Amino acid sequence: MSTPLEQDASSRTRDQWLDKTLRPLAWDEYIGQGTVKANMQVLLQAARERGHAPEHLLLYGPPGLGKTTLAHLVAKDLGAAMKVTSGPAIERVGDLAAILTNLGTNDILFIDEIHRLNKAVEEVLYPALEAGVLDIIIGKGPSARTIQLELPSFTLVAATTRIALLSAPLRSRFSGGVFRLEFYTNPEIEEIVRRSATILDVTLDAGAAEAIACRSRYTPRTANYLLKRCRDYAQVHKRELDTELVDEALDLLGFDHLGLQEVDRILLRTIVEKFAGGPVGLSTLAAATAEEEATIEEVYEPYLIRSGLLERTPRGRIVTVLGYEHLGLTPQQTTNQRSLL
Ligand code: ADE
Repeated sequence: MSTPLEQDASSRTRDQWLDKTLRPLAWDEYIGQGTVKANMQVLLQAARERGHAPEHLLLYGPPGLGKTTLAHLVAKDLGAAMKVTSGPAIERVGDLAAILTNLGTNDILFIDEIHRLNKAVEEVLYPALEAGVLDIIIGKGPSARTIQLELPSFTLVAATTRIALLSAPLRSRFSGGVFRLEFYTNPEIEEIVRRSATILDVTLDAGAAEAIACRSRYTPRTANYLLKRCRDYAQVHKRELDTELVDEALDLLGFDHLGLQEVDRILLRTIVEKFAGGPVGLSTLAAATAEEEATIEEVYEPYLIRSGLLERTPRGRIVTVLGYEHLGLTPQQTTNQRSLL
């Protein structure tokens, strides 16, 4: 069973190890997120110059945009050790107490998926963040008493894909800043693909980098994944990694020219075919596609919205004209179909 702190590298798969290898290790290697980077660097330099641990930071945005990487860069910048855990891994108050009491002075504590912390654990976290103390209740009933442990100074860097699920009191504890990570631009993703190709010792031309970027959902994690799969394809077929190969390999993998996978197309098609293009509510859509609401909202929708294929309105989700075109349909076709029923 894994402990609340992340498993060590020996138990990771080779792909996870490769992902770590591709991770930027210095600010100047980190491409994109310019505003977040610039703000963080000011905060870190100011804290370093004053000899303090920086205040707590929250990073949010869709998966795969580099929240964990940024946390590592914060630790590296400060020359601090980083302990890594996640909301679901901290099941009990005792788990959090163990983590906090094992921190060294000025360590970084990274909690991924912080929106999944349970209430009891969250309550214990507040005084730790605000006053640097751990309140422990000993005993039960009338004889119960609280003892307070002084914690070393530390900085919490937390990440979430779902900022709306964080309680207001928890959100307000991130006095260092709340940073929103944006989708990357295609030129930024191309640069990331070229950097990763160099690390992986893969030769690819400009067309290939662009073709991978176009299917990468503006997301570095996806770009690196697609690059690795193209490298496999080139090796197995003993071919150059060029544009033609990228198109073949990624078509086979089920990523179309906009980076949509079958599940994305099913979502769009369901709205068009079962709900006349929308509006349709999230729970209805989840039931109709057998996907979880949270997965639709966190993983699939942000990219479909950013690509202009889907709109989120107060009355529900709507497929746009671009969305219809991507499915090879026109809005007129569904209207005609409905009038035939
Ligand atoms: N690999 C993953 N994310 C990256 C980024 N933002 N910059 C450079 N390489 C990356």
